[in-house]
Amino acid sequence: MAIPIELDHNSRQSLQGQIFDQLRHLILGGKLKPGTLIPASRVLAEQLGISRNTVLLVYDRLIAEGYLQARKAIGTYVNLELPETCLSATRRVTPSSPGDEEFVKQPVIPFIGHIHANITVQHLDFDFCPDRIGLDLFPHKIWRRFVNKTFMSANMHFEECCDPGGLSELREVIAAHLGVARGISVSSDQIIITAGSQEGLNLAARLLVKEGTMVATENPCYQGATSLFESYYAKLIPVPVDEAGLDVEQLPKEGVALLFVTPSHQFPLGFTLPIERRLKLLDWARRCGAFIIEDDYDSDFRYRGSPLTALMGLDDYGCVMYLGTFSKSMGAGLRLGYLVVPKALIPAARSAKALLNNGHAWLDQATMAEFIRSGAYGNHLRRMRNMYGKRRDCLVEALREHFGAIRLSGLESGLHLAWHLPDHYPPAAQLQTIALRHGVRIYSIGGGTGYDYGGCRYSARTLVLGFSSLNEYQIRAGVRRIADAFADMSLNPLSMREKVDNVATPSL
Ligand SMILES: Cc1ncc(COP(=O)(O)O)c(C=O)c1O
Repeated sequence: MAIPIELDHNSRQSLQGQIFDQLRHLILGGKLKPGTLIPASRVLAEQLGISRNTVLLVYDRLIAEGYLQARKAIGTYVNLELPETCLSATRRVTPSSPGDEEFVKQPVIPFIGHIHANITVQHLDFDFCPDRIGLDLFPHKIWRRFVNKTFMSANMHFEECCDPGGLSELREVIAAHLGVARGISVSSDQIIITAGSQEGLNLAARLLVKEGTMVATENPCYQGATSLFESYYAKLIPVPVDEAGLDVEQLPKEGVALLFVTPSHQFPLGFTLPIERRLKLLDWARRCGAFIIEDDYDSDFRYRGSPLTALMGLDDYGCVMYLGTFSKSMGAGLRLGYLVVPKALIPAARSAKALLNNGHAWLDQATMAEFIRSGAYGNHLRRMRNMYGKRRDCLVEALREHFGAIRLSGLESGLHLAWHLPDHYPPAAQLQTIALRHGVRIYSIGGGTGYDYGGCRYSARTLVLGFSSLNEYQIRAGVRRIADAFADMSLNPLSMREKVDNVATPSL
């Protein structure tokens, strides 16, 4: 079967990109049905008059993203279990007939990237996902009790919108929590309750970013942030990260309106910004007149030493906005987070939130407020910290058992670590694909976790491994599979294990 793919050799898009997009469209548009055997890479390469390697890389990526499946001795075929959501969503936006094309009369803003990776990929038992919590750790029983209790006291709360900034009871307990846990002294009216920190990021961007606004971010960076700023047509400025987080000396001296940063646990590399750099950063913001968004997404989970005071807790100038989330402690499905703004931005932030959705759903807020107020949240956090600490130790131990003296970062806190690969290893993106063939999902930067502008010395050679959603058995078995996958590589005649054991690696 010849697949209808047309290549434009003069296009600015790479051949790989063109083939990937066209195959993906054929699959999602239903023209290549689930189960259809697709031509062998050699055949398609001959059909298109290009190198087989290019086709192989495209197939690998389609397999990694769940569109295709490969079976030994049979070939590669369209995945039988393409997620329904993915099919229907794409059919809606992909014009499938000339009539549909005519219907779209207005240019639609081309939102790029960031559909959360987890909803479009198949479930795997061994998925070292960096942003999922352990289902077994959600406090089901006690949460159900709080939901029931809150529901019984609902009164008029279902009839009216609540304050656009959020339920005052919840904002008060969050303000108290931030004071104790993060050294941030704020009044509750500085807090806006949001649908996860992603909505908080949207609010902040709505206040400060328009076409051409200079927004600086870490490189590599959290993709949820870069995609959002891109959607506002901001001018993105990558700032390098080293082993102490954002390299403050490399920030532009002027012109930047906003900086997005993850000081507690740099995403995705896991480095912590030391106090001297935090102070320098604040000084830079004051001199530039820039705002800073501090994304403190996982600082509830600190395993070694006490946490450094958040940037906002050190800010005397009123230039830091703080993003908090319950996604890491309670689960991302709850969609509950908050944005803390400097006093001067309170009216604008409240109005922006009101324009967006007139405030967050009452029941979730009230339940969370009661959960925190009762002390149950504090107990839950302690339990999670303990479990995650054990899972982290288990992952480190298993990695060292199979790969020797490896170089890791980000161990002090959070729900993921970064594994810096030795130079003789293939690039992390390739290892990600190879591991997937062995039924285990690991993450390269840019392969579903972070955004890499290019030029980052860590990006190509770093794997990101989350440990929060796997139990210790899954962690050990998953690492064993990774070891098997790497050892199987015909790329490397010597077993990886032997090679790694011979490399002197500095520990971070
Ligand atoms: C860097 C970073 N920020 C924030 C979040 C949380 O996003 P949300 O609160 O929207 O679920 C994540 C989650 O995975 C993250 O990795």
